[in-house]
Amino acid sequence: MNKNIIITGGTGFIGSHTCIELLTSANYNIIIIDNLCNSKQNVIDKIEKITKTKNITFYNNDLLNKQEIDKIFQKYNPYAVIHFAGLKAVGESIKYPCNYYQNNLISTLNLIEIMDKYQCYNLIFSSSATVYGKQESPLKEDYIIGQNITNPYGQTKFMIEQILKDICISNNKWNIISLRYFNPIGAHKSGLIGENPNDIPNNLMPYILKVAVNNNTSKNLGIQFNNLKIFGHDYDTPDKTCQRDFIHVVDLAKGHISALDKINELNGYHVFNLGTGNPTSVLEIINIFKKANNVKLPYDFSPRREGDLDICFCDPDYTYKILNWKALLSVEDMCIDSWKFQLNN
Ligand code: WQD
Repeated sequence: MNKNIIITGGTGFIGSHTCIELLTSANYNIIIIDNLCNSKQNVIDKIEKITKTKNITFYNNDLLNKQEIDKIFQKYNPYAVIHFAGLKAVGESIKYPCNYYQNNLISTLNLIEIMDKYQCYNLIFSSSATVYGKQESPLKEDYIIGQNITNPYGQTKFMIEQILKDICISNNKWNIISLRYFNPIGAHKSGLIGENPNDIPNNLMPYILKVAVNNNTSKNLGIQFNNLKIFGHDYDTPDKTCQRDFIHVVDLAKGHISALDKINELNGYHVFNLGTGNPTSVLEIINIFKKANNVKLPYDFSPRREGDLDICFCDPDYTYKILNWKALLSVEDMCIDSWKFQLNN
């Protein structure tokens, strides 16, 4: 019989792509819990369409609502939980830190309490490269984390990692994996699902997409999207713009399947980077996007954005060694798939 996996935040960007991989490359039943605070319910229909499955189980619930979540666990007796749900906007977290601590920490604690009650001890957590703070790349899993984190969003990721580690120390029944994502972009090749932020985007690729729409289609999204602003042209990198480890969301999603396959045999608390290990600069990705999609993408240079590191990329070797996973798709693939999704939507 297929195992039941609960996916919190399963209608979000990374969650939805992971649902597709779970349904296509592996035999799992999925139960999605999402409060739709930054996603739409029609994502469920799209996952069904892509995977040719019907009747995905979906609960529009908040993890802060313990009674409702308890009922779902009672009903499905899950084998594992993949926990994507959480607030994730860096700037917003600086403005409303209490929301971030309240939401991200309490929801995770609720989840752990309920998992323990129903003896579900397999958990995969969405962590972030941000927990490394300001350290020299390539970043390795055994580096000290939690120093020089510049925003509450990042603090919540770090704090949750600490909590999960302590839980594994307290009771060896737990099998918990934190996956530290680098810069996920791209979209499913169908063009049906991708990143769809509700507000003005802060991250680079969603912003590139809006600027590309304004300059290459008949749509006008407003003057703020006439030009891309590159934050900083004085970094210590070859072209003076920041370098990041962009990773295709489909590769990232597959990393969760690899983690799930190994979670029982690993036992205890483990951490893995999910990145390519290859840095790409902001200017480089703009040029790759323009060329791959044959579009205009005007930009100019602005002052540095506070809190940005000059260079951030991972060492992917440990993940490959233990999980037998590595990223396969190129930055060009990421740009093509992102644009396809944008044009479809
Ligand atoms: C990338 C580069 C910007 C927008 C963030 C979070 C991290 C993680 C992923 C979140 C930087 C530059 C951006 C623009 C620009 N988790 N840029 N003009 O900051 O590396 O990582 O997202 O969910 O925790 O911090 O990603 O996409 O915001 O920026 O020049 O309009 O693009 O300065 O160098 P970042 P990003």
